[in-house]
Amino acid sequence: MASTDPTTMRSVLGHFPSGVTIVTGTVDGEPAGFTCQSFSSLSLDPPLVLILPGRSSTSWPRIEATGRFCVNVLAEDQQELSTTFAKSGTDKFAGVDFSHSDLGSPILTGATAWIDCTLHASHDGGDHLIVVGAVHDLDAPGLPPLVFHRGGYSRSVPS
Ligand SMILES: Cc1cc2nc3c(=O)[nH]c(=O)nc-3n(C[C@H](O)[C@H](O)[C@H](O)COP(=O)(O)O)c2cc1C
Repeated sequence: MASTDPTTMRSVLGHFPSGVTIVTGTVDGEPAGFTCQSFSSLSLDPPLVLILPGRSSTSWPRIEATGRFCVNVLAEDQQELSTTFAKSGTDKFAGVDFSHSDLGSPILTGATAWIDCTLHASHDGGDHLIVVGAVHDLDAPGLPPLVFHRGGYSRSVPS
């Protein structure tokens, strides 16, 4: 049996191509956010989605405390944003254009879709949390998506 050490897990699981999101919130009037590849629809009725923040994230606990967040699905020309929002402890929103959702969370300009949520539930998931969001509003300008596959970005789903 192959070993299930973190390096093997990351390498094998990296073969599953996915989109990339930035989870945002407004904390004490200031925008906050982090890059999050682990996003999924969960339920249509009631409308629920799933994100998996790591326990090492410093942004998620601050956003979680507000009880609201927005999932911004990145477009293919937003690779730089993805890299910027993956750097802990930096001024991630410097020069970033965004508007506010009905619930007050940042909607990143140029995202291919956004999903505005309140926090519905949070469960243990090992070194990550399993977070369920109740969807209040969503829209999709529908630009081609950014894709993450085998540790790298691509502009279209690899065939
Ligand atoms: C492509 C990509 C995907 C990522 N996916 C996740 C994820 O699904 N969950 C997570 O917690 N962190 C993920 N990260 C790492 C976080 O973005 C990073 O740890 C976080 O931004 C650190 O900042 P913070 O301390 O402000 O939260 C990802 C990073 C990149 C570059």
